[in-house]
Amino acid sequence: MPAYAVIGGQWGDEGKGKVVDYLAQRADMVARFSGGNNAGHTVINELGEFKLHLVPAGIFWPQVTCIIGNGVVVDVDVLLGEIDELRGRGVDVSRLWVSDRAHLIMPYHTLLDALEEGARGQGALGTTGRGVGPAYVDKVARIGIRVGDLLDLDRLYPRLEYVMRQKNALLTKVYERPPLSLEEVFEQCRRWATRLAPFIGQVEYAVQKALHEDKRVLLEGAQGSLLDLDYGTYPYVTSSHPTVGGAAIGLGLSPRHIQEIAGVFKAYTTRVGSGPLPTELKDSVGEQIRKIAREFGATTGRPRRCGWFDGVAAHYSATVNDFTSVILTRLDVLDNFPSVKVCVAYEVDGKETDQFPSDVSVLERCRPVYKEIPGWHLPTAGMTRLEDLPEEALAYVRLLEKVIACPMSFISTGPHRHEMIQVNNFL
Ligand code: GDP
Ligand code: IMO
Ligand code: MG
Repeated sequence: MPAYAVIGGQWGDEGKGKVVDYLAQRADMVARFSGGNNAGHTVINELGEFKLHLVPAGIFWPQVTCIIGNGVVVDVDVLLGEIDELRGRGVDVSRLWVSDRAHLIMPYHTLLDALEEGARGQGALGTTGRGVGPAYVDKVARIGIRVGDLLDLDRLYPRLEYVMRQKNALLTKVYERPPLSLEEVFEQCRRWATRLAPFIGQVEYAVQKALHEDKRVLLEGAQGSLLDLDYGTYPYVTSSHPTVGGAAIGLGLSPRHIQEIAGVFKAYTTRVGSGPLPTELKDSVGEQIRKIAREFGATTGRPRRCGWFDGVAAHYSATVNDFTSVILTRLDVLDNFPSVKVCVAYEVDGKETDQFPSDVSVLERCRPVYKEIPGWHLPTAGMTRLEDLPEEALAYVRLLEKVIACPMSFISTGPHRHEMIQVNNFL
């Protein structure tokens, strides 16, 4: 019966990879349901450090079946590269399945992502440039190519011919770029088909079977709730649904199966790419956080924008997902600050509000109202027991629980698998 969702509570990069790698020891299945290789999930365990973009972070546990669901968009070259790397480092990938309903990121999607960003000029979204947005556009426009299409190349050819006629018109007439060769793209599909075929399946059956056999299914969120196409800071969002609703659609499971929903939050705020970030610190404190935490994107290497914990945004995210618990990460990054701040309200147009505005132009005008509490001078890094936390760090944790209005289940105190404090049950 139970599925357990692990959802990014902020703007992505909260540490979902670390958390899922840790929790997967108790799981039978780990499934990705949204996004594509715009995600970069860092895992550090006894095999070393991994940056996973498509393969679920449960792959390191031998009892875990890993699923890439229909809601994911798949760049096959990236997936095959990841499979090769994992194999090369001694990880068994025979338990990996990709939904035949998942859409492919095609070469024209990656090209168009860059060209569309260029055309937006000052208004660029700061996408990861991986073709994710354009692939979802085609899915909704019903001209997408799906993983399952690779299994019938004769049927794929005329479809690809039709789609590429449109894409090449766009490339040449709107963007004044050379067209892509249909034959070359088709050949690429042929190569993909040969290598990917053993991994392709109708995975919704496997997911349903696991749930009905009372197996534990962990749903691995990608991105963060505030990047959700509907609930995020539109248009500065990604093109899928990182919120928990995306898990039902993106894997073919009923919401009734989801028993627990954990929101992963880092102890402060970061964002990579454009869009409002009310608690952003453009001063030396922000720089200090970025340096200590090495806040550079796992996918693009871009510096992440840093700021204090945004309680208004976090509470909103907890509300739209109905989080049953919070998993706090990177508490150790705040070790040694004389004081720490949490944004508890916004001030906008002379009024105070605890609501997260839906309009980015309003959010841009929001000024954070902070509660400041003393920092802690004893390191929390690597701690595994709640009772060992310095009093001030515990007070910070309790303050976050209060502003998010949700209890903690785990606190992560370092990037390695074992650096974790269990506070309450999750799975
Ligand atoms: P994800 O996209 O949510 O999986 O997060 P990323 O992997 O993009 O970024 C999270 C970063 O924080 C990675 O470099 C992790 O190794 C690191 N990390 C995760 N949890 C902790 C923690 O508790 N403490 C510290 N210091 N680093 C952490
Ligand atoms: P993980 O799973 C952080 C951001 C991009 C950009 C916006 C749109 O590692 O947390 P896209 O390429 O999706 O069209 O870009 O979304 N973005 C992420 N930021 N972590 C991610 O994934 C992200 N995936 C997309 O930076 O602002
Ligand atoms: Mg990431």
